[in-house]
Amino acid sequence: TTAPALRHYLQFSDFTADEYAYVFERAALIKKKFKAYEKHQPLTDRTLAMIFEKASTRTRVSFEAGMYQLGGSVVHLTTGDSQLGRAEPIEDSAKVISRMVDLVMIRTFEQTKIEAFAAHSRVPVINGLTNEFHPCQILADIFTFIEHRGSIKGKTVAWVGDGNNMANTWLQASEILGFKVHVSTPSGYEVDQSIAGIRSADSYQVFKDPMEACRGADLVTTDVWTSMGYEAENEARRAAFAEWCVDEELMRAAQPDALFMHCLPAHRGEEVQAEVIDGPQSVVWDEAENRMHAQKALMEFLLLGRQGG
Ligand code: CP
Ligand code: NVA
Repeated sequence: TTAPALRHYLQFSDFTADEYAYVFERAALIKKKFKAYEKHQPLTDRTLAMIFEKASTRTRVSFEAGMYQLGGSVVHLTTGDSQLGRAEPIEDSAKVISRMVDLVMIRTFEQTKIEAFAAHSRVPVINGLTNEFHPCQILADIFTFIEHRGSIKGKTVAWVGDGNNMANTWLQASEILGFKVHVSTPSGYEVDQSIAGIRSADSYQVFKDPMEACRGADLVTTDVWTSMGYEAENEARRAAFAEWCVDEELMRAAQPDALFMHCLPAHRGEEVQAEVIDGPQSVVWDEAENRMHAQKALMEFLLLGRQGG
């Protein structure tokens, strides 16, 4: 088999709806095999380098365990234990690392950093979270929605909270996959359509009141009030976000069978009430597990195209 053309996964908008349909189908198959203890090792002898400039639990475990299951290996680098933390230029790091591995995942600060890395990489680069985007998470979230409710097309997702990397990625996804996002953020923390780079405002609507955003929603989702890298704003954010807590009242405004999702880690009593995240509508544990299955499908697609076997 020939290697597919070099592709990166830096934003949700890097794939088409048709490619997502394929990746979701593969994720379902890969998950099924995993549950049946059936080997699926199309990436034997391939190596994934993972670069973390911010903390992680799920992203690290899901990529690392996932790559081993696919038959490959991983190299784990952090800013503190590599030359990345000693100001080696990102372009030089990209040239060197990508000559030795088959795939690179990066979690960092500015999106421009991962773009610079990708521009000098010989191998596919995956965004494992930047200040602007978290495409692997939304990939898993939509896969989880499909598992529980079928196609997300035409559905409504309510975003309650910060106009952050998760919110930006939901906006991109809504335009590509044809669903609606109802966004409610405190003032000063709005989403910025230009960051998501979406062409029109057709797929999302902004609401002052989180209750209005949740009305009739098929999925209610939120995230921490203070993302990694914004810790200095913690106090101001606590005050500004006090009304943006997903509680049972907000869930009652949504569809009776609405799902609740949170990318985790969560803060019970802040952005979500314990009764909601630990309640019957919450699918957060499936969502976390699905990071692994969805990313296995993603890695397979980037390295083998549609020849995963
Ligand atoms: N949701 C998520 O990306 O979790 P980690 O920060 O633990 O990787
Ligand atoms: N918005 C959060 C997500 C963590 C997985 C952050 O960027 O810290």
